[in-house]
Amino acid sequence: MIDFSTIGGNILRRLPPEVAHLAALKILRLKLMTPQSQPDPPILAQRCLGLDFKNPIGLAAGFDKNAETVQPLLQQGFGAVEVGTVTPLPQAGNAKPRVFRLAQDGAIVNRLGFNSIGVEVFAKRLAHAQPYRGIVGANIGPNRDSDDPLEDYRVCFSRLAPLVDYLVVNISSPNTPGLRALQDRDNLNRLISTLQNRRAGLSSTHGRSIPLLIKIAPDLDERSRSHIASVALAQNLDGLLVSNTTTMRPSHLTSRAQNEPGGLSGRPLFSRSTSLLADMYRRLQGSIPLIGIGGISSGDDAYMKIRAGASLVQLYTALTYKGPGLISQIKTELAARIVTDGFDNISSVVGVDATKY
Ligand code: FNR
Repeated sequence: MIDFSTIGGNILRRLPPEVAHLAALKILRLKLMTPQSQPDPPILAQRCLGLDFKNPIGLAAGFDKNAETVQPLLQQGFGAVEVGTVTPLPQAGNAKPRVFRLAQDGAIVNRLGFNSIGVEVFAKRLAHAQPYRGIVGANIGPNRDSDDPLEDYRVCFSRLAPLVDYLVVNISSPNTPGLRALQDRDNLNRLISTLQNRRAGLSSTHGRSIPLLIKIAPDLDERSRSHIASVALAQNLDGLLVSNTTTMRPSHLTSRAQNEPGGLSGRPLFSRSTSLLADMYRRLQGSIPLIGIGGISSGDDAYMKIRAGASLVQLYTALTYKGPGLISQIKTELAARIVTDGFDNISSVVGVDATKY
């Protein structure tokens, strides 16, 4: 659900969120959006996860769940686009309405529940649209009624590893019952070793070892944080995405839809997800790249995430309120902040404030 151009954006914002989202996808698919042609400031370029990112601003999972508009999204100026979450079999997700705007709070509540076209069609679309002019990640999850979620991840992993630049294991959506329990130590260990084995098998066939990352929830207690950090280190994970949406509701929310069940994203998620980000950076001592997500709506927000420990960032909710012009705006502001503060490259900024949280 995104409100792309200014005129179109005003119209889209009057539509129910999911209808607006489908319209935005269609606008992108029909290539009605002008591609962003300005080159990125070189100071924003970096190598991370073994990949060359021309800028650190990524589109978070959930916008293009079915890999319908990857190339047009990359052309809007993102450094990377993450598609999915995709499940092995097609599934419809929860009953509608299931996405709610909290406009006064700059937030969204969603309980989509992994509506997905299924990994077969998803993979065919990715294969058909290649080669991409940019970095593409895929975010994978299990079917709601699966008897064996580990096998579901394995199926998606195997099918998509040859087709994307990195893979994200989503164990943090609040809308699939039991999913967050995969963040527990033993479950996580089992899941990651299954995928590492699979990766080893695939890399001997394809000659490439795909980066494997996990996406975590912002609602983790001390014990879970410590377990995740130790599993990430022991299993040589390539990266962590911090974070998904929260089931908490900060007391300062004013929008009526705040009590809808589901995951809250956008501005009210910023401080919670940023302090978890800094915490994970400290626990991992900067040894594993982190992708900072949650409430980014300006260059300053992106800069704060990077200073807190993010090598890369992603956003979603702010785009639905501000439109695609936000991407260039963030890049310009971010580059200016890096220069003003005397850094020579974005990589030098990562984690400089991690102890302040
Ligand atoms: C999401 N998000 C999400 N995350 C994920 O890993 N898989 C998914 O399928 C989805 N789906 C989804 C749908 C909608 C409508 C929203 C708003 C969000 C979470 C998203 O990727 C991101 O982690 C959070 O939204 C926090 O970032 P923002 O939105 O505050 O920038």
